[in-house]
Amino acid sequence: MSLKTGTFYVTTPIYYASGDLHVGHAYSTVAADALARLSRLRGRKTRFLTGTDEHGQKIEGKARAAGKSPKEYVDGVVAGILRLWDRLEITYDDFIRTTEPRHERIVQKVFQRLYDQGDIYKAEYEGWYCTPCETFWLERQLVNGKCGNPECGGEVHLLKEESYFLRQSKYAERLLAYIDEHPGFIQPPSRRNEMVNFVKQGLEDICVTRTTFDWGVAIPFDPRHVAYVWIDALLNYITALGYLSDEPGGDALFREFWPADLHILGKEIMRFHSIIWPILLMALDLPLPGKVFGHGWLVLDEGKMSKSKGNVVDPHVLMEKYGVDAVRYFLLRDMPFGTDGRYSEAALVDRLNVDLANDLGNLLNRTLTMVEKYREGVVPAPVAAVDDRALERLLGEVLPSLETAMDELQIPAALEAIWRLVSLANHYIEDNAPWRLAKDPAEKGRLDTVLYNLLETLRAIGSLLVPFLPESPGRIWAQLGLEGDPAKIVWSEVTRWGQLPPGTTVRKGPPLFPRIDPKVALAPEEK
Ligand code: MSP
Repeated sequence: MSLKTGTFYVTTPIYYASGDLHVGHAYSTVAADALARLSRLRGRKTRFLTGTDEHGQKIEGKARAAGKSPKEYVDGVVAGILRLWDRLEITYDDFIRTTEPRHERIVQKVFQRLYDQGDIYKAEYEGWYCTPCETFWLERQLVNGKCGNPECGGEVHLLKEESYFLRQSKYAERLLAYIDEHPGFIQPPSRRNEMVNFVKQGLEDICVTRTTFDWGVAIPFDPRHVAYVWIDALLNYITALGYLSDEPGGDALFREFWPADLHILGKEIMRFHSIIWPILLMALDLPLPGKVFGHGWLVLDEGKMSKSKGNVVDPHVLMEKYGVDAVRYFLLRDMPFGTDGRYSEAALVDRLNVDLANDLGNLLNRTLTMVEKYREGVVPAPVAAVDDRALERLLGEVLPSLETAMDELQIPAALEAIWRLVSLANHYIEDNAPWRLAKDPAEKGRLDTVLYNLLETLRAIGSLLVPFLPESPGRIWAQLGLEGDPAKIVWSEVTRWGQLPPGTTVRKGPPLFPRIDPKVALAPEEK
């Protein structure tokens, strides 16, 4: 997967610090987090970057409307974003803000370098600008005179200003050849085709500076200009690693982790990441990222969940009601990672009740109840003579299925692999009816084996969930009476059978996931 050996660098988009984030933003970040957690468990040196995009006309306007300076305004928003990632237990290694000097200084250096080498030149810009999308449009790209982004379709205004341009056109052929030679570069394939068609229509040079507002990185060779917010933002992926750092050794992370293995982003910003970004990198003579993956949206009946539509769902409210693991599980399991997924709270409650409370929670609860009832709460030793390896065999298949699914960015399939085991264990209880075995002293060895197999399967399930859910693995292990931390396991050993020591005293606790009554949870709130 990595172009380098043994390292993994994954990024999310840097989110606009224009207001609180919603569950759609949480989706990209939770997905990246699961991939980063797994990568660390697999022993790869991993770097997971997220952050905030804090410049631009839109944010300047928001700050003004709030009666604050732009910096004061973004500081407030960023504090909220950090709280959200904390609550969702996002394990980012670095959080970059585009207002940090470590970023701004390098953006200036990059502009200077591109200007010096002739990739940036001055000209008069005339074209249409959509402020909410911070996007320039050509006349022919407008739809009925409005913004060409189908999700926006808002007013655009004519901009006529002296600007600097990036010579994109010069790189179009090279970009097409690169995409052709690297089928995995833009994914999924539907987005790849869209991008190829877009480039084939011809790339115009793009305007990379603005003069009509101030809230941006000043251009070193002409400080009346500030950097176009998208160029500023894209560079975060390398400034955060210390690219072009002045400090001695300040670019060590860059040398270790660049090129990124995976940029995760929503499909609406694919064009920036699969055209402008690679062209900037080519101009800087840097290798391109391994993969740019454009996932679908969480959509509601009325379309994409977005701040501008005001139809957003606050992840804090969801976590308050259902807990962090249920929210993460729902996002990772229910949303197909490559295409749009329909969001509804009812679907979340359903997943919680069925997969988490009924299938997983009950499996643990029933198993521990039987161990308490039939074996005084002590893990029995399996009897070698009883040949019963169905759970052991399936467990052996889970790890490769899970890893392949994650490598292919099919996150729901990774969870499905774990739930096949959960489901088999539930059937195993029905098929073996321990309550009948308990009545027959001749079946003592068989009952010991059945109970051991269930407990050992739960031990492994606890570990297998570590990349996805931050709380349940530890709670499962604690109820099994295990002392260690499931997050510290040797991943490749997770499914090796027989690690739960017989003689361990289990500690049955409250249900992992109490069932939620949808009528109560989904009732419209009283005003
Ligand atoms: N600041 C730019 C990104 C710059 S990256 C160099 C930006 N920010 S944003 O705040 O608008 O966040 C966009 C990202 O949030 C999307 O690309 C996507 O990853 C995520 N999502 C926002 N709404 C979403 C949904 N409704 N569904 C899924 N993901 C969503 O664009």
